[in-house]
Amino acid sequence: MNLIFTHHPADSLNTLLKEAGRPHAMILADSHTLSACVEPLREACPALADAPVITVEAGDVNKNLDSLRHIWEQMQQLGATRRSLLVNVGGGMITDMGGFAAATFKRGIRFYNVPTTLLSAVDAAVGGKTGINFGGLKNEIGAFCDADAVVISTSWLATLPAEELKSGYAEMIKHALIDSPAEYRRLLDFDIAAADLTGLLPLVERSVMVKKGVVEQDPREQGIRRALNLGHTAGHAFESLAMRRGRPVPHGYAVAWGLVVDLIISHMKLGFPSAAVHELAAYVGRVYGVMPITCDDYPALLELMSHDKKNATPGAINFTLLDAPGKIHIDCIVDARDIEAALDIFRDLMGI
Ligand code: GLY
Repeated sequence: MNLIFTHHPADSLNTLLKEAGRPHAMILADSHTLSACVEPLREACPALADAPVITVEAGDVNKNLDSLRHIWEQMQQLGATRRSLLVNVGGGMITDMGGFAAATFKRGIRFYNVPTTLLSAVDAAVGGKTGINFGGLKNEIGAFCDADAVVISTSWLATLPAEELKSGYAEMIKHALIDSPAEYRRLLDFDIAAADLTGLLPLVERSVMVKKGVVEQDPREQGIRRALNLGHTAGHAFESLAMRRGRPVPHGYAVAWGLVVDLIISHMKLGFPSAAVHELAAYVGRVYGVMPITCDDYPALLELMSHDKKNATPGAINFTLLDAPGKIHIDCIVDARDIEAALDIFRDLMGI
């Protein structure tokens, strides 16, 4: 896989496509990225100037079989062959679904990912997970298939709401915690609220390289790739609870709260330094605010955690924990009483 970090994504794509022998390229976009990203890209990238654009409605609810069928049908009508190439321009919904459409069309055609949100740049676009939601479950149908190239640029982020940036940044904090104390410190010291997008690119690069390093060791998530689930057991439960309440929260916000819970449990079980737990809780409260929960929400949160698809043993709740930044423990089963105690401490630290 060709991984490119650039301030000039159109130039990089042009070079890539020229080197690939100018294949029959098609672009996949959604209703948001079509005018904001695809039009400027086609203007600045001669190799894509005449590329047809397949468009789907934006939003994770549209990452479904109907949209996938539409992409397959469009590729067929455009005369796509085994040598065609799909350029996915968008957030995680587009890179996940476009990757899957490409992986399955004629048993697989090449695809490039051009992530246009921070969340997709540091997570969805890299690592080979492709797929769609199905039967009410997220990412239920899919395949592991690597993009041939991923072109990552922070230049797309200038017009995005601050909330989107902060959401992606939570995944970067997760990667930094998996990586090292120095990288974690660098991220906490960077001001994402007043983000300098040029200065953000090297941080994004390091973050993606952390993910790439983990995925290369375990592409099919049989073991160490579960390190990337740090913050996600409690995080997914917060996200689902917010959805049930009819007040959805951005994925990264839920991950940020989940990271605090995971570090509290890491302190309880593995002696992760308590000063660092306090520091992260203060940071998360300041940047992401809090989601109000009381002890009446614990049964629902525990039930959501126990149904998480990351759990290998039915009923057991599985966490990725750390004994220090960079020191990972996967597959830690934590019992309900300890999780409730951690949620009590979480509410104390976050002032709820
Ligand atoms: N988002 C975590 C992973 O790709 O494994």
